[in-house]
Amino acid sequence: MRCYVSRNAGSYTRNFLLFIFVCTVSLVSLSVFAQKAGNSTSQKVTEIVSKMTLEEKVGQMTQVTFAVIAKGGWGNEDGTVDPAALKTAVVDHRVGSILNTTAHALSAEKWREVMTMIQDESKNTRLKIPVIYGLDAIHGQTYTLNSTLFPQSIAMAATRNPELVRAGAKVAAKELRASGVRWNFAPVLDCGRQPLWSRFPETYGEDVYMGKYLGSAAIKAYEEDGLKNPTAVASCMKHYLGYSIPRTGKDRTPAYLPEIEMREYYLPQFREAVKAGASTLMVNSGEINGVPVHADKYLLTDVLRKELGFQGVIVTDWEDIKRLNDRHFVASTPRAAVAMAINAGIDMSMVPSDFSFYDLLIEAVKKGEVPMSRINDAVTRILTLKMKLGLFDNPYPEKESFANFGRPEYQALALEAAHEAMTLLKNQDNALPLSKTAKILVAGPAAQSISALNGCWSYTWQGNQDQWYPADSKTILQAISDKIGAVNVITTSVKGFDSSANYDGNKLKTAAADAGVIILCLGENAYAESPGNTRELALPKNQVDLAKAAIETGKPVILVLTEGRPRFITEIEPSIKGILMAYWSGKKSAEAIADVLFGDYNPNGRLPFSYPRSMGEIVLYDRKPTEEVREVFNDNVSHGYDPLFPFGHGLSYTSFDYSDIKLSSSALKGNEKLTVTVTVKNSGSRDGLHTVELYTRDVYASITPNMQRLRAFKKINLKAGESQAVSFTLDKNDLAFVNAKLQTVTEPGEFWVMIGDKKASFNYQ
Ligand code: BGC
Repeated sequence: MRCYVSRNAGSYTRNFLLFIFVCTVSLVSLSVFAQKAGNSTSQKVTEIVSKMTLEEKVGQMTQVTFAVIAKGGWGNEDGTVDPAALKTAVVDHRVGSILNTTAHALSAEKWREVMTMIQDESKNTRLKIPVIYGLDAIHGQTYTLNSTLFPQSIAMAATRNPELVRAGAKVAAKELRASGVRWNFAPVLDCGRQPLWSRFPETYGEDVYMGKYLGSAAIKAYEEDGLKNPTAVASCMKHYLGYSIPRTGKDRTPAYLPEIEMREYYLPQFREAVKAGASTLMVNSGEINGVPVHADKYLLTDVLRKELGFQGVIVTDWEDIKRLNDRHFVASTPRAAVAMAINAGIDMSMVPSDFSFYDLLIEAVKKGEVPMSRINDAVTRILTLKMKLGLFDNPYPEKESFANFGRPEYQALALEAAHEAMTLLKNQDNALPLSKTAKILVAGPAAQSISALNGCWSYTWQGNQDQWYPADSKTILQAISDKIGAVNVITTSVKGFDSSANYDGNKLKTAAADAGVIILCLGENAYAESPGNTRELALPKNQVDLAKAAIETGKPVILVLTEGRPRFITEIEPSIKGILMAYWSGKKSAEAIADVLFGDYNPNGRLPFSYPRSMGEIVLYDRKPTEEVREVFNDNVSHGYDPLFPFGHGLSYTSFDYSDIKLSSSALKGNEKLTVTVTVKNSGSRDGLHTVELYTRDVYASITPNMQRLRAFKKINLKAGESQAVSFTLDKNDLAFVNAKLQTVTEPGEFWVMIGDKKASFNYQ
């Protein structure tokens, strides 16, 4: 293809003149963009870009995976870099970014060694532009051994505590930076409205407000210290847009998303993240309404750049440009795929296993298929990011960051987060907390599994290899034994989630003879992305059968669920006394579970999703009125929102009563504010944390309103017997919805505000 230039000299001259013209125009517009990044940064970037060859620019837009530079490629186990392969990538192909690991986490020291070699090599390039390395630290630093893992986002959402989200993200940033890595592919801002989807655990659940609020808390924590500071990393909001709602529920399969729905439920989190200062964005690997998002100029340029005002770097997801050609079939050649994606607005390609993108983009530019202005725009954004991260000042691991790795206080924070995530779903006859002197049978596949407590992105991509977890990680069995003494604990569980011994109901029945209570640990082992696809949301039959065996013993059964998404337990739930939703809550999951079960911690987590009864009953909490009230013919199921446990559900060992809901006015006018106050009393006998949630309902609207929308929440700490007045301030933006013209509006009329079992109404005028 490259010989086209010499075959056609006339066209070459025309193209060349055009090329010079476009370069000049684009460099002028670039400096305008770069000025927004701060004057001295922008001047430096513009200067560098003006010196760069096309090859150098395209190299900056190329991101390859670690296997490309690792000794033995994908077979590499120990993080050894192959110097020749490194030179091929960084010097010969001028690669601007590297990501990922090959097999599993490496030590912080090893990462520093890798980073040092990479940056040394970047000094051998003409312009000595440093390389930016990215990793997925989605619930703590995934790929560094002995890093601190926090609850997954779904569990963080259960805490209803943005301060914990913030603090966990800050630790991830510090541990990344201590490993020499300055770019984090987090947070996931996809809204979890399809529980089948295997990445549901990476979301903040089904609610838009929660995603906006917690997602932006994470972004601020990653970036707010200033990217040059060795406590900060560049965040990456992902996966823009509509990734979480595939029609089949399977990862990376098509979504059909009307724009009104997209703007109501999926875009607001990204709008908020842009405002919070996210430096980069990763694109959804899937397609919406038949358009792969990597080729969607409307979403990437018109909405993201122009409407949301995002100035940062847009990176593809894994291999997604190639897939425009070989999976989505919208580009007839690999080069057409490259041109399509770059013209749509992509700045950097996670190629990631070869240099095809580099070659093809150079060809595409030379053939006039991609304008030089787009290349300059992309490179300017990439270099601005590198400059803001201080990579041009010092690209090497920073000595002052090393002590920020694995600090003892992180363990306490991980425990606090796991504690607050624990969500008590059922507590019949106050079966919980358990007595520490009772004889306990601990059973089930999750009882001796570390990976079933941590989930995806935990030392390996899938997170399902216990051997890479820190040596002091506890299983549920160990944490319970430590708490009540091994003599009080019997178990039938063995290591290995899938070991057949874990499902032996007869063995369980025999062992239960000596026990007063059975703690049954069921749920899901770790999975990530497509390997987590499932045909069935019901708990697997072998787990249900084990639960039935436990129930048949007649002993009280307490169910601990370690799972990333709601697996149906409807069949066994009526016979279970207590149910604790533990999610995948990270390093301290087991300790937190044991603390709640034996009363050393009073649970306060609230479900961030509706826990459905069955496949035919998947209705979300912010349902429309016609989902709520069904017409009844012979159908005896007339109540449309009928989950096993609703969104926001979560019990405590104490009780909270609400009274005296008051509004500052019965009318909210224009841009004024309205204060809503409610008195909350801890009417039980234990101190406890409690989240007060405020929902609104637009009574009549131009399109069917939602039955309820979460608009605010506050977490409070009340001593037994104590009362507190809790206030919220609302304005018209808190009541808005997307109308039929796709505008976000607040229409005049009656609104309800609902807190706990209390309700008040006012008029918006
Ligand atoms: C995932 C992304 C991740 C990337 C790099 C992809 O498969 O979809 O979320 O950031 O890999 O690891």
